[in-house]
Amino acid sequence: MAVKGSKLRLGVNIDHIATLRQARREDFPDPVALAKEAIAGGADGIVCHLREDRRHINDADVKRLHRLRTRLDLEMAATPEMLRIALGLRPDMVTLVPEKRQEITTEGGLDVVRHYRRLKPFINKLKAAGITVSLFIDPEKEQVKTAALLQADFIELHTGKYARSAYVRGRPGPLKRELAKIKLATKQARAKDLRVNAGHGLDYRNVRAIARLAGVEELNIGFSIIARSVVVGLRQAVKEMRRAIG
Ligand code: PXP
Repeated sequence: MAVKGSKLRLGVNIDHIATLRQARREDFPDPVALAKEAIAGGADGIVCHLREDRRHINDADVKRLHRLRTRLDLEMAATPEMLRIALGLRPDMVTLVPEKRQEITTEGGLDVVRHYRRLKPFINKLKAAGITVSLFIDPEKEQVKTAALLQADFIELHTGKYARSAYVRGRPGPLKRELAKIKLATKQARAKDLRVNAGHGLDYRNVRAIARLAGVEELNIGFSIIARSVVVGLRQAVKEMRRAIG
């Protein structure tokens, strides 16, 4: 549903194209060439996560993606190395995420309450460079409140728990409860002038309820689209997601 009067945007996360490339240490498939396909299919922007261990996207990819002049959201951990890269590159947006070496994907949001003192100067530096800052957080009251105190421009609400709760052992799970949390967090954020994105674990079925939430501006989706693209091609997979989110 997005924000009144504007269309819900779709950011496509292309990390897993690079994951496939890295599986054989080849120079294909090329995430940059496929980012263009995602845009042709209706993506409003490209999202990529430059991880400390460079397990998929690497520094050269990020530079080339930036040169595409399509809207780039760089996900990264709040480390001195990443700050240096972001300030050098100046992507449209930086989304700060937690990062653990052993995790398969980003598990849980960044605890902005716990890391407030470290994050404050970090965010100030990004903002001073003209970079829009988003914080990937769990849909919890204290996290939203602190994100506002940190003067982030956006929060991205972690929808992973919602996505995983659709079915528990084959039966309908606590989906409504998780959806209600995201709804409440969105409302709370909007009341504090924080803009709201959402993502993680969203697929062609569970995305519909999230897409209907008032106040969410953009959905960032990766794995389900890239997985679908193996069957129908990336342009078509993005088109289908666009259709699903309305
Ligand atoms: N948003 C953020 C902040 C993420 O870290 C990720 C995963 O890289 C996504 C969105 C996309 O999640 P998924 O690949 O499960 O769609």
